[in-house]
Amino acid sequence: MKSILLTGTAGFIGSNFVPYFLDKYPEYNLVNLDLLTYAGNLENLKECEQNPRYKFIKGDICNRELVEFIFNEYGIQGVIHFAAESHVDNSIKNPGVFIQTNVTGTFTLIDVAYKYWMKNPFVYKTRSSKSSAESIIPRFHHISTDEVYGTLGEIGLFTESTPYAPNSPYSASKASSDMIVRSYQETYGMNTVITNCSNNYGPKQHDEKLIPTIIRNALKGNPIPIYGDGKNIRDWLYVLDHCKGIDLVYHKGKTGEVYNIGGRNERTNLQIVDRICAILDEKVPRSSSYPELDSGSSYKELITFVEDRAGHDRRYAIDATKLENELLWRADENFDSGIVKTIEWYLKKYGNTN
Ligand SMILES: NC(=O)c1ccc[n+]([C@@H]2O[C@H](COP(=O)([O-])OP(=O)(O)OC[C@H]3O[C@@H](n4cnc5c(N)ncnc54)[C@H](O)[C@@H]3O)[C@@H](O)[C@H]2O)c1
Repeated sequence: MKSILLTGTAGFIGSNFVPYFLDKYPEYNLVNLDLLTYAGNLENLKECEQNPRYKFIKGDICNRELVEFIFNEYGIQGVIHFAAESHVDNSIKNPGVFIQTNVTGTFTLIDVAYKYWMKNPFVYKTRSSKSSAESIIPRFHHISTDEVYGTLGEIGLFTESTPYAPNSPYSASKASSDMIVRSYQETYGMNTVITNCSNNYGPKQHDEKLIPTIIRNALKGNPIPIYGDGKNIRDWLYVLDHCKGIDLVYHKGKTGEVYNIGGRNERTNLQIVDRICAILDEKVPRSSSYPELDSGSSYKELITFVEDRAGHDRRYAIDATKLENELLWRADENFDSGIVKTIEWYLKKYGNTN
């Protein structure tokens, strides 16, 4: 059995990743470190609680003593690092905690990993190697974002060689953490990989993010707030497709490489709201919850434009060719299929299942 440290697993992506990974790899013990900030929720991991190969530890990735203890106690032989402050709006109001968690936290984690693995040079067979010929040293996989590349004009895509140009304190803190990870590979020869992913959506996302905000407000009959003119474009990826990409890169990615993960699903925010409202109109017509409304009344009527986010990047779009060609990754969901699954999950969460 091999013990892998996962951080930030009580959040959105980590809590989708853990059950997927536990199921797929019976040879792993997963040690999960999460501070349970406002964004972490143990309810997200309830289905894993009884699994003997799953261990949850509440704590801060910036706490060096705790991180060292975890490496020693569990003999950690790999890290997949999700933990972060992740909400751009919060980073505009309170950037300090983003620098602390995303920069100092990543530094603490990788520095402890490096020192521990120097002292404890694990060498083990990969799944594919029946002989002892092929062996790998423990890997540090850093989960990052396409926001590090800044903003695009009307055309073009982010590739792995696009220069970094972060525009928000969030993206600047993630860009800094990417650089720290890169430096440990270049300077100390650590076995690192970085994945930069586009906007995720799916079950278990925190209420503050765009898609849960649209669904929740629609179902409550509240205004659905849209920044600016609603024409900012993001490239949406279903969260489980991101998890599968991480799995591939963690196991098969080349040391020191960066891989972009994106769904080729560019949508303006307005297109996202329109699609969600159209699906809700079918699944839970407004007139069924609000009899005073006539039967043609659409959730779209709730769309309300609000003052734009400061420094709001106009367009993100990922070129995932490297991951597709080298590791044969494909997204299983397109936006139309993924958003239906997502809405069905939130309808259950918000108690509206008709
Ligand atoms: N959500 C997206 O669309 C998206 C896209 C690309 C990349 N990412 C990256 O993926 C990772 C996960 O994102 P998410 O959406 O699941 O985030 P999230 O905000 O939902 O979850 C973050 C988790 O990290 C934990 N955490 C925060 N500070 C911590 C600390 N100091 N120590 C330990 N745990 C701490 C929180 O409690 C929470 O469980 C992040 O690194 C983020 O930058 C997210």
